[in-house]
Amino acid sequence: MSKDDLSQRDLYTRREQTKIKHLILQKYLQRFAMIIGFKWDTITYVDCFSGPWNAQSEDLQDSSFSIALRELQAARAQHGIRGKSIKLRCLFLEKNPSAYAKLKEFADDAKNALVETRNCELRDGVDDIVTFVRKRQGGRSLQGRRKEGNDGNAACPSEGPSTRAREENKSDRTV
Ligand SMILES: C[S@@+](CC[C@H](N)C(=O)[O-])C[C@H]1O[C@@H](n2cnc3c(N)ncnc32)[C@H](O)[C@@H]1O
Repeated sequence: MSKDDLSQRDLYTRREQTKIKHLILQKYLQRFAMIIGFKWDTITYVDCFSGPWNAQSEDLQDSSFSIALRELQAARAQHGIRGKSIKLRCLFLEKNPSAYAKLKEFADDAKNALVETRNCELRDGVDDIVTFVRKRQGGRSLQGRRKEGNDGNAACPSEGPSTRAREENKSDRTV
């Protein structure tokens, strides 16, 4: 979906507040990711109330996590054109099991980004969030992270292969 499609398509009928929220998110992340990418080589993004929630599209393009990933990837592509490789790391939390199932399916299909999910309430996921954000500082490899698996937080589980990173080439596999 192109950026303008958010306003062109009929995905937000009787969802005007969501539409405004998603437009703000989209516009903000456009600039945020470009600016951060000039200085840093990794962008870590955490959404604690991911949804999806009342999404109308089958591919969940009208969900905040889809919009976020799309904008982050667009910025990544722009930086790539000027020779800068940006790594994307996303952590999406959602407490509702049925919404989480859709979120996880989306995350498992995500390309060119490390996307992790947690099926828990925010209050139970704070330690996981801090660990996720700090892992980058430790410079661990993606392979190492996969071996670690879930951190054992029963209140905030991440199932099996919810961590996915499908980089475009093997030379860009560490995060
Ligand atoms: C209004 S919806 C927004 C969904 C998404 N951010 C979007 O804009 O498309 C809020 C979502 O947060 C989830 N949620 C609410 N309270 C939560 C909590 N304490 N921890 C985790 N998820 C929560 C709900 O289940 C719901 O899916």
